[in-house]
Amino acid sequence: NNTMKVSDLAMEMGLKAPQLVKVLMKNGVMANMNMDLDFDTIALIVPEFGWEAQNVFKTADAVAEETAFGELNAEAVIRPPVVTVMGHVDHGKTSLLDAIRNADVAAGEAGGITQHIGAYSVKIEDGNLITFLDTPGHEAFTAMRARGANATDIAIIVVAADDGMMPQTQEAVNHAKAAGVPMIVAVNKMDKPGANPDRIKQQLTELEVVPEEWGGNTIFCEVSALKKTGIKEMLEQVKLLAEVAELKANPKRSGTGIVIEAKMEKGKGPVATLLVKDGTVEVGQYIVAGTMKGRVRSLTNDKGERIQSVGPGLPAEVLGLEAVPAAGDKFDIVKDEDTANEVSTLRKEQAEKAATTPNAKMSLEDIFAKV
Ligand code: GTP
Ligand code: MG
Repeated sequence: NNTMKVSDLAMEMGLKAPQLVKVLMKNGVMANMNMDLDFDTIALIVPEFGWEAQNVFKTADAVAEETAFGELNAEAVIRPPVVTVMGHVDHGKTSLLDAIRNADVAAGEAGGITQHIGAYSVKIEDGNLITFLDTPGHEAFTAMRARGANATDIAIIVVAADDGMMPQTQEAVNHAKAAGVPMIVAVNKMDKPGANPDRIKQQLTELEVVPEEWGGNTIFCEVSALKKTGIKEMLEQVKLLAEVAELKANPKRSGTGIVIEAKMEKGKGPVATLLVKDGTVEVGQYIVAGTMKGRVRSLTNDKGERIQSVGPGLPAEVLGLEAVPAAGDKFDIVKDEDTANEVSTLRKEQAEKAATTPNAKMSLEDIFAKV
């Protein structure tokens, strides 16, 4: 529990409770002896008695991090980049993702049947993998960002060549900028008669998204999701950006990452699509996703195949959680059931606290000093 009773705090400082109540009142806290004080209030009040408050309460994230296991200091290795596709309604996000999946060498090998799990990895010609998040909704992106756990490395902003920049194009650009991720502009529907890529470059330049050929640093790729033209070239650009970013992770430690989407499914129970950011998730391990705990009962990859483990930069569908977590939630693999209970209980308390704190938008780190 992350609070302390007035009477207990008074005792700690060798005071009588009414003395403490008086000072609390003076500071605008309508206190009584049995009231629970949060850390911020305690930190504010104790200097009046010559004390200094130190927060020894642990956050869920701190406990998860402290109890991480495996080869924690193993050398980091290159992982697949995670790409989010964003853009205005009807500009072709879904079609582009379909076209990309069509270019998947591995899918071709497996007979071309891919299962939709909200995130998928594509093997490009040189054998490298790129992971795409099939949740282009701005809400999911914002939720992830708000939780300080942005899972995206690169944003692809789709703009229809015959339509031009639209309000949601601007929003998408702002999201990418705020998240500090590099972007690629996919000028889509190039097959259409009215396609005018120069106009789009002009419009985006006004948002300070300047094409390379105009002296800026943003790559514009002219594509047609419908005719599947320009897709390979665009994937090549994604690969180059990823190489520059040197995205690395340690697959030898316990897994941690983000919930991309989650739902309740008949016969399966809670089903969550995880994106592993670091480490490896294995069947049988204990997990906490958001406030929900569980044990990994099964893992399924984006090709619909059962797998025993999933590493950094890759998505998988997990079964075995006690309930459905929220999209954007952080997840951690923890060493045992006790730790799973502890982390999930702490997260629940923190979530409750955040919900009843006036500025509920504040991050948990703001509310609970990091240990
Ligand atoms: P929302 O999810 O509703 O925001 O749309 P979206 O951005 O996912 O667009 P979607 O892929 O559904 O495509 C919208 C329409 O544009 C569909 O009718 C597509 O067939 C069409 N379209 C997408 N890409 C192309 C393209 O390259 N050329 C042409 N001619 N039409 C396209
Ligand atoms: Mg769509």
